[in-house]
Amino acid sequence: MIIAIDGPAAAGKGTLALRLADHYRLNHLDTGLLYRAIGRIMADRGLDLDDPVAAGAVARTLDPADLGHADLRGREAGELASRVAVHPEVRSALVAFQRDFARRAPGAVLDGRDIGTAICPDAEVKIFVTASPEVRARRRTDELRAKGRNVDYERILAEIRERDARDSGRSSAPLKQAPDAAVLDTSALDIDSAFEAAIAIVEAKRA
Ligand code: DC
Repeated sequence: MIIAIDGPAAAGKGTLALRLADHYRLNHLDTGLLYRAIGRIMADRGLDLDDPVAAGAVARTLDPADLGHADLRGREAGELASRVAVHPEVRSALVAFQRDFARRAPGAVLDGRDIGTAICPDAEVKIFVTASPEVRARRRTDELRAKGRNVDYERILAEIRERDARDSGRSSAPLKQAPDAAVLDTSALDIDSAFEAAIAIVEAKRA
């Protein structure tokens, strides 16, 4: 079984994907980490993020073993990722790795922006996880404040809107709901309720 989870930043995709993978005993790939690693490597080497040739070269030599890099989870890496992710050269270099991962036994949960539309269009289950920008910004702000970070809600909201616009507006495999994806709006759900709703979607597909 392949479960494709797509949606905008901070909608809860990552947590849901992990819990689904654990529940169904499937492999899990957070595909955002691939783009984050490329953005991070380019920034570290002083390369121009908007240069498709340089970005493509980094993407083609990316060693997925490097994904443990400590600095990939934060907001800055997310921003770098969103910028390099617009280049078709980058996206095409990552296709084979993601598809091979998805095909490996016993199956996988992949989360990202284009899994159900471009990477695994034949996935048995596709879930488009979303939430309003305000709810996503509130959750992100609370999460960062809980870690002791002094962050401004309005600023986080602006970043989320900007990232949504870039991820949805690019011409190469934009963030978009697959026609056969089930939409899971987590705006009014806590994580346990969202997980239950996701399980219900998977079970309905398998029935
Ligand atoms: O899911 P994330 O926040 O880690 O993703 C970071 C950025 O990477 C996201 O803003 C756009 C890009 N991305 C993508 O274009 N395609 C994917 N499948 C995953 C991430």
